This record gives sequence, structure tokens and C-alpha cells, in this order.
Amino acid sequence: MVCFSGSKKSANAPFCDGTHSKLVNRMEIVQGNKVVEISQAKSFLTTALRNEIPHLSACGGIGKCTTCRVEILSGLEFCSERTEEESKLANKLSMPDSIRMACQIKINGDVKIKRLLLDKRDLTLNNELSKKKEGTVGTIRNLTILFCDIKGLTPFSESLSVYDVIFILNRYFSIMREVIISNGGEVNNYIGDAILAIFGLKESRQQTIRAIKAALQMLIEMDNFQKYLEEAYDESLISESEFISVKSSLGT
Ligand code: FES
Repeated sequence: MVCFSGSKKSANAPFCDGTHSKLVNRMEIVQGNKVVEISQAKSFLTTALRNEIPHLSACGGIGKCTTCRVEILSGLEFCSERTEEESKLANKLSMPDSIRMACQIKINGDVKIKRLLLDKRDLTLNNELSKKKEGTVGTIRNLTILFCDIKGLTPFSESLSVYDVIFILNRYFSIMREVIISNGGEVNNYIGDAILAIFGLKESRQQTIRAIKAALQMLIEMDNFQKYLEEAYDESLISESEFISVKSSLGT
């Protein structure tokens, strides 16, 4: 039977029986001869950054890159086991035991480490990234991408002047842009006659359904656009039979 403060009875082990190891340890970084205190609850990466020691972390510390890796020069026995994420990378890259990911590792004793990626160029890159106030090189997002281009534009445009082609393209882009925006998407880029739109940047609910809805509406708008071209230029982008076969393959 165990008692808290001599008054409360409990079947569980006491929170502190006075035999725990010290909660704060020393982390020595050989480059620059820095020594900082590190708590058992914090990773190397967090501790380094909190102490304003530059340290690369391209994925933002989620165990998806190798830029934060360090070499443990002494105190490997005090380091936590590799996490699942770290193990995956370590196996893939055949890393020796002494090479560890700074964002994944915690310690319960004093260690001496060497950062592996931090030459002058790395440092400049790191500084540039922190100036941009970005914690990482990028962010992993779940987005839906809609990409479309115009079938048959090249032969169609060969019969027209450059100005007409630009005029037609601008008209086409403006129609399709409206459809994309009205379905909650954003045009990310125009590449020649192609449009790259992204759904889910601001609002992720039903982003894929909204993208499909936009694509179907774009086909309807394309019907009208074809009619417009036939009236204005006596030409169509693709032949009637091709157009019907494209639409039937899409089930519209
Ligand atoms: S910062 Fe990417 S794995 Fe540590």
C-alpha cells in the first residue's frame, strides 16, 4: 500500500518517490561550443531553437525529412528509442545508431552532439526561411487539384491572328475562372491554354465534390463557348463528333 503525503491511500505508484533521475540534463553542441539545459520532455530540436541555436528542420519536426539529423558523440545510452517515423527513415537510409533525428529524440542524461547539416550555405538557407516566418520549407495539405486544357486549340489558332487567339483565351479564362471561384476553388496558374485550380485551400469541406461540380459546369460552359466561337469565327475548337465522344466518355 502506498500513501500520498501520509494521508491519501492509493494502489498506484506515487508520482514522486524521490528515486527519479534528474529532469534537466545538459546538451553540448560541439559546433560553437554551446551547452544548454534540456528537459526530458523536450526534443533536441525544440531545445536548440528555444536557445536560439540555428537548426534545420525542413519538415517542421514531424519526422518526414532528414535535415535535423545529428551525430551523438557521447551519451547515446541516454537517448530515447527511435520513434516509428525515425525508424522508417533510419532503415531507409541505413543510418548508424549514432545518427539521430533531432526532432524525434529525447534524453535522460547528458549528451554531446554534432549537427550534421549546417554549413554556411545551410545556415543562409535557414536564415532566409526564418525571415519568411515559415517554420518549414512547405506544409503538407490535403488539396484537390483540377487541371484542364483545351483540346484542339493549336489547329484552331493557326487560322487566326495572334490578337484573336489572345482575345479568345482571355474570354475562356474569365468564364472558367468564374466557375472555379463560384465552387470555392482558386486558380493557381495559367499554363498556355491550361488552367490549374486548387480546391481546399481556404475551405476543405467537400472540396473534391466541389472540384467535380466545377469540372462539370466547365463542360457546360464549354458548350456555350463552342457556340460562341462558331458564331464569331465560323470555327470550332474540336469537331462536333469529337466533342460528343469526349462528353459521352465523361457521362455528361
Ligand atoms: S525536422 Fe524533419 S525529421 Fe526532424
